[in-house]
Amino acid sequence: MKSLTLIALTLALGVCQAAIIETETLAGNDRSVSSIITDKLEAMKVQMADGFPRFGIPPMAPLKVSHRDLNYETGEMRIMGQVDDVVINGLNEFEIRVMDYSAILSRIKYEFNFASLNLTTQYEADVGAGYHMERKGGAFMALEDLNIAGFIKYSTGLLPSSSFRVKQIDVRVKVGKVVSKIENLSKYRIFNRKLNEVIEEFISLTINDNTELLASWIDSAVTPMCNDLIGDRSLKDLIALITGESQSISSTVVDVIEGMKEQMPCGFPAAGIPPIAPLRINHKDIDINTDGLKMKGSIDHFRLNGLNDFDITEMKVNAITSKVTYKFSFRDVNVDTTYNLEMMLKKFGFTINMVGAGHAKFALKDMVIWGTMRYSLGMLSGKLKLKSLEVRTHLGEVDSEIEGMLGDGGINEKMNEYLAEAVEMAINENEDLIADTIESVALPVVNHALEDVSITDMINGGDGGDGGEKEVCIPPELEW
Ligand SMILES: *[C@@H]1O[C@H](CO)[C@@H](O)[C@H](O)[C@H]1NC(C)=O
Ligand SMILES: *[C@@H]1O[C@H](CO)[C@@H](O)[C@H](O)[C@H]1NC(C)=O
Repeated sequence: MKSLTLIALTLALGVCQAAIIETETLAGNDRSVSSIITDKLEAMKVQMADGFPRFGIPPMAPLKVSHRDLNYETGEMRIMGQVDDVVINGLNEFEIRVMDYSAILSRIKYEFNFASLNLTTQYEADVGAGYHMERKGGAFMALEDLNIAGFIKYSTGLLPSSSFRVKQIDVRVKVGKVVSKIENLSKYRIFNRKLNEVIEEFISLTINDNTELLASWIDSAVTPMCNDLIGDRSLKDLIALITGESQSISSTVVDVIEGMKEQMPCGFPAAGIPPIAPLRINHKDIDINTDGLKMKGSIDHFRLNGLNDFDITEMKVNAITSKVTYKFSFRDVNVDTTYNLEMMLKKFGFTINMVGAGHAKFALKDMVIWGTMRYSLGMLSGKLKLKSLEVRTHLGEVDSEIEGMLGDGGINEKMNEYLAEAVEMAINENEDLIADTIESVALPVVNHALEDVSITDMINGGDGGDGGEKEVCIPPELEW
């Protein structure tokens, strides 16, 4: 029965926690809240292996108790003794059959099914029931097809600062089959089996015939425990408590990105990525031939500058809703190159022929990139998957200084102005199109890349990858 208390308490805790998530998703409907609670409980099952240190709950899957005195007395039966090396299995092996949240009723209905909740132990007991016997040996007990169902009612108060209160916890417990294998109850094997059968029936009846009693006992014991845990905290405080972990995730992500920024001038050799701040190409022949555009020639001393010159204006990781909100501000991302190109542009029935050579600079200034991404983290596999990626872009200003385009002088100047305006408009007025395109292109690529790495690799990867001390990147001196 002790372990049942523990299950009830843990589930109640989980549901207490889960109920709090409600305000995170006020926009969401009841069904999405139910699924968040389900996710939270699934995560809790995994966490049960390590326990909940914050609530003073030890590892529970399995739950190990080294020693406990037994002192049980009821009516004419008396058991005195002790159990050692108790191992309880299956506390985390439950199926969530019902999870139904209703905001209007401030109620969460649930049903959990445990396939087998079992216990092994060594026991020593002095059993008296009109007679007296000393027994010791190994014992195995299992509750199979254990069903725990009921509801939790709570109040959130009218003000955000009102305390969150659990009003009622209804728990109905039913067991399908009880298995008892206690050694040495009798030294005769057949009689020992009979005694175990009696115990099986006794436990089965105790649980199944006292559903109401058990329910009211759990409500009276667990509800105050739940409220004690919550204390005077308001819903807002509780959200801060839960998302406190997320804040530290956010700052870790910021640190990792800042570290990457510093590394960009040296590249990421381990990942086969060359220096990208600046990204330089000494010489490249260009030969593009599509329906609309023909381009032939070469570029020399091509530099893409400024990829590492950005501020992280926002980085919020919400571990509960699995959502990342970000915003990066780039000051000046620019291309600087010399070129020698013949270009033929066929568009709208025109053919534009251009021959140009010289120095070219093209800059995107005050570019802001922001958006959200949603991810899922496989609790068992530890694999991260991107579910959606929204990338919004806005340009402050575009600067085009391409020498030799349509000759020099006035026409060249006008041409550059047009080009700058066209690019700025193309980007700023097609936010949705750009966002959709990036999402459709990047999502599969990113997920493909994530397939082979686990979250642990990624966390280690943030430190440089190959395990050793991270080498600080000293930006190399460049000749051009
Ligand atoms: C004990 O419970 C665990 C978890 O439910 C289960 O995997 C295991 O088979 C059970 N052991 C026995 C002997 O029934
Ligand atoms: C208990 O039972 C086991 C197996 O039936 C036996 O090996 C053992 O000796 C017994 N122990 C005691 C203290 O009777």
